[in-house]
Amino acid sequence: MQVILRQVGDAIIRRCEPSDLISVMEINMKTLPEHYSDYFYESLLSDIPEAFIVAEMHGKHVGYIMCKTEFGFSNFKKLGFVKKGHVVSVAVLDEYRNKGIGKALIEESNLGVKLRQCVEMYLEVRCSNNDAVKLYENLGYIVKQRLRSYYRDGEDAYLMVIEFSNQD
Ligand SMILES: CC(C)(COP(=O)(O)OP(=O)(O)OC[C@H]1O[C@@H](n2cnc3c(N)ncnc32)[C@H](O)[C@@H]1OP(=O)(O)O)[C@@H](O)C(=O)NCCC(=O)NCCS
Repeated sequence: MQVILRQVGDAIIRRCEPSDLISVMEINMKTLPEHYSDYFYESLLSDIPEAFIVAEMHGKHVGYIMCKTEFGFSNFKKLGFVKKGHVVSVAVLDEYRNKGIGKALIEESNLGVKLRQCVEMYLEVRCSNNDAVKLYENLGYIVKQRLRSYYRDGEDAYLMVIEFSNQD
């Protein structure tokens, strides 16, 4: 059964289903240099479907976000060990950008990992990816660290983090 989370203009934001994965992989191939195996997409969807979300407009897939959950040291509390969400990949097709779809995908995935008792979320983003960095900052993420040569081509990443409050 489709779980529709919200509408952004003509776009429907909803939970991903196994039949969406081919389209998600196609968007990933068109928009990002980091690609993954079919198995990896399938395992993320089965592990945490609450935070694997797609955007669809007039029957066409136009964006997605997929996340993991992990236990590890807190990015906010000294010596704290917490459950964290991790944004693995997010993208919107070029011609559908600047309409609020990326923002909605990130907000819904934040809610999705919170359903799994995560108290923080983090992500890595290329330091040159100004659009994405600005969007994350507007959503409350902060740059925690610069990760030297994080990507295969040698580019640095920003580690960006957000802590969820009980009121969120
Ligand atoms: C990063 C990415 C996912 C953002 O997606 P998006 O759908 O364009 O994001 P949004 O539309 O929500 O926000 C982008 C901007 O559009 C603005 N916007 C939102 N709604 C809008 C509307 N109705 N009309 C015009 N602009 C709007 C937002 O304010 C935002 O600007 P800001 O950052 O200055 O606040 C997209 O650029 C992308 O896929 N990039 C390539 C892949 C990538 O880099 N992924 C991230 C890797 S970490």
